[in-house]
Amino acid sequence: MKIFFTFFLSLCASAALYAAPYVVKDYGNLLQMPGFNSSLLEMHFKLYAGYVKNTNDLMSSLDALSQDGKSGSYEYGALKRRLGWEFDGMRLHELYFENLGGNGKPNASSPLYKALVAQFGSYENWKKDFIATGMMRGIDWAILYFDPQMGKLVNVWINEHDVGHLATGSPILIMDVFEHAYMPQFGLDRAKYIDVLFTNLNWEAPAQRYNAMMSAKK
Ligand SMILES: [Fe+2]
Repeated sequence: MKIFFTFFLSLCASAALYAAPYVVKDYGNLLQMPGFNSSLLEMHFKLYAGYVKNTNDLMSSLDALSQDGKSGSYEYGALKRRLGWEFDGMRLHELYFENLGGNGKPNASSPLYKALVAQFGSYENWKKDFIATGMMRGIDWAILYFDPQMGKLVNVWINEHDVGHLATGSPILIMDVFEHAYMPQFGLDRAKYIDVLFTNLNWEAPAQRYNAMMSAKK
């Protein structure tokens, strides 16, 4: 009886977890970053909150349509196609904000730093390629990806939020280069934005993401 009750509680907890909405995270600590106007960041936080809301709304609408037996409808298909875009918009912004707020200096003794040097020849070589990826024309993200199968670190250009991701890859360092991320303050000078951004990178976040992937790989 006790085992059944425990199992029942576990099922209830799981159901509650799956039904729980995504919550807007607070990145107010970033408002003090040198070189960034707080108005730019506050606008960016609002955009991010929109992705969280839309992800929750989409999931609720899809559930309702499915329960109404309308999963074969045009509306269901249209919403389903939008889900990846909204979800990735939400999650990539979280990863981006979480790898900001530091002093921009990577820890040269970290496994991530050593891997970048081993694969690109030097940290500067990797940085040059990452920035070149971020400077590509388009509305996009530059992401340092980790391919767990081969252990490779790859700089990847993501169109919009959802096109170009590496299947089974894990994002390690994320840079938002959509126009909204810099134009209100830096105008067309994307290079200046990237320069300022690099001085504010929190390398602890990507280092921990890399360590987690390496631990999972063992
Ligand atoms: Fe953004």
